[in-house]
Amino acid sequence: MTSIGPSLMCADMGNLKSTVRELDQAGVDFFHLDIMDGLFVPNFTMGPDLIKQIRPFTDKPFDVHLMVMKPEDHIDLFIEAGADMISVHAEAATHLQRILQNLRNKGIKAGVALNPSTPIEELEYVLDVVDYVTVMTVNPGFAGQKFIPLMYKKIQRLRELIDKEGYNIQIQVDGNIGFHTIPEVVKNGADMLVCGTSCLFKKELSLKEAVQQLNIFLEQTNPQKEGMI
Ligand code: DX5
Ligand code: ZN
Repeated sequence: MTSIGPSLMCADMGNLKSTVRELDQAGVDFFHLDIMDGLFVPNFTMGPDLIKQIRPFTDKPFDVHLMVMKPEDHIDLFIEAGADMISVHAEAATHLQRILQNLRNKGIKAGVALNPSTPIEELEYVLDVVDYVTVMTVNPGFAGQKFIPLMYKKIQRLRELIDKEGYNIQIQVDGNIGFHTIPEVVKNGADMLVCGTSCLFKKELSLKEAVQQLNIFLEQTNPQKEGMI
């Protein structure tokens, strides 16, 4: 089952409220919110206040992707802002197991994001407290980058590890996810697609048309799609 989530950092920040409403009505499954601190990644995007402002415009899950150092210091702010799911980067979390446990204790879906160079073995001793893994298919920090081909193999190996260990963990892919990469990432085991400039936020299409086109493509690529989190 494959679900789609727009990456709102790719949206027109001046019209975020209407964009969220439009995407919600068009049938997306979740909203992906990229948080950057200028340290973990050399860029800045949005903060908890902006998330608070758009929260009332949809009931769909807010998936907060924390690309920040010391994520444990900032998690509560994003929970208050309306996050339903939070992914922290394994590379930024000294006490990853504690952070994930803490998220779950607060009723939040616990996610781990992995930079392209970080091996899946980093997850071996936290699989029992993880709900989803974000495989970065580009180096985090910017939209519009090119997919790193070795990530296809990483997704496949991660799916094998999760299934072999018998966990119910979703695989999210983030970075240059579009019509040219979706078939293979889905075939290799990805469940959640973060959709940015490569397949949703395109000048030539309305958001409604873009979501429709993507859903049709997914139906053809992966007839099982039912859109659930
Ligand atoms: C990059 C972000 C992604 C990005 C995706 O660090 O995590 O969510 O916005 O944008 P595209 O699809 O353009 O790569
Ligand atoms: Zn992201």
